[in-house]
Amino acid sequence: MNVADSELVGGILRDHGYGFTGNLGDADIVLVNTCAIRENAEQRVYGRLGLFNRQKKKNPALVIGVLGCMAERLRTNLVDREKLVDLVVGPDEYRKLPALLSRALEGEKGVAVRLSRVEHYDDIEPLRTEGILAWVSVMRGCDKFCTFCVVPFTRGRERSRPRRSLVDEVARLADRGYKEVTLLGQNVNSYRDGDEDFADLMRDVAAVDRSLRVRFTTSHPEDMSVKLIEVIATTENICKHVHLPVQSGSDRILGRMNRTYSVDQYRRLVRRIRSAMPEVSLTTDIISGFPSEAPVDHEMTMDLLREIEFDGAYTFKYSPRENTKAWAMVDDVPEEEKGMRVMQIAELQHATTLKQNRNLIGTVERVLVEGPSKKTETDYTGRTDRNRTVVFPRTHEGRGDYVDIRIERANSATLFGRRIGEARP
Ligand code: 5AD
Ligand code: SF4
Repeated sequence: MNVADSELVGGILRDHGYGFTGNLGDADIVLVNTCAIRENAEQRVYGRLGLFNRQKKKNPALVIGVLGCMAERLRTNLVDREKLVDLVVGPDEYRKLPALLSRALEGEKGVAVRLSRVEHYDDIEPLRTEGILAWVSVMRGCDKFCTFCVVPFTRGRERSRPRRSLVDEVARLADRGYKEVTLLGQNVNSYRDGDEDFADLMRDVAAVDRSLRVRFTTSHPEDMSVKLIEVIATTENICKHVHLPVQSGSDRILGRMNRTYSVDQYRRLVRRIRSAMPEVSLTTDIISGFPSEAPVDHEMTMDLLREIEFDGAYTFKYSPRENTKAWAMVDDVPEEEKGMRVMQIAELQHATTLKQNRNLIGTVERVLVEGPSKKTETDYTGRTDRNRTVVFPRTHEGRGDYVDIRIERANSATLFGRRIGEARP
């Protein structure tokens, strides 16, 4: 989501004549797009700001700005109290950036952090440079108010972009050679445009070009409709991958998190998804060490992971966030215990993913080639429909092409194989 927002800001700046440099020493302006979801995300930003301020000692004219959720959360503090930055701009105020920047270049400080009920930047073409994979933000904000989460406070209320303009944007991306779009929102299932819902949007986006893969993230289990499941199941170019954060396997903790579903409802939803798409890849998010989480609650989460056998799970230590309801609860699980629980979940998930990946050995997977692999130039990397990374010896195809790969080897993170029909060296 932050990559998408950075591309949006890039689009606004490009339209106002700004250029970009990869070299800090050449820059007149440095903008840091930030996340406030957990404390450690913010600590990393402070580290960066330290680095930029050292550069400012060498070049006092350098303008340093903080964008995004941390800007929204800390507001004037970053300018007044901590004196770390010249500009603070929240997620709904990016249109003001050009004006704020010209004043900042004259030495004026600027803060713009008002949230909006309507801003969705629909008319701005993001500055995309990736070439084949595109993020498309379909809605902004969140009205769910999970008790641990700062997002409703930093990104404001839910609002959706018009369906027509989203379909047009995807058509332009397809024309430019993009091969995969990921529709983004904090809770995409609350997408609305008149009578049309997210399922209608997905169907229409997928119809733009059948060689374009369509993905989406993130779904809240409460809002995942039967209609959406059907659209995913029956539309060939919608990837069969659902990211469905469960957060905990304990009803008591889910209640305290205000997640609005029970473990049993979640289970039934998974059953419905899997019966419509037996091959679906399911991934999830888990928070470990939420206030009052006892060993028995943690065991319930472990049991749920064993039962559902997710294809992947992102696990986070609970991090108290100011303004949220959980901020008032006692953060009573010791840091070390949170770490242990996260590790146990990660180990369990690792074993599950490894087993699933090994089961794919011998099968043929269609892979969208993304480019040379990080490790060896002689290999390519790409992903399957179900979002698994595959590494294979370079073929005559290139970035953006589809190739059929027979899987020969697997670890828990990567599948390895070779193009079918390609002779062994
Ligand atoms: N502490 C830890 N993890 C959090 N998440 C959101 N808020 C917090 C927090 N305060 C996690 C949730 C969410 C993911 C994007 O980040 O699991 O699904
Ligand atoms: Fe945060 Fe909950 Fe909204 Fe997700 S659904 S962004 S966890 S409040």
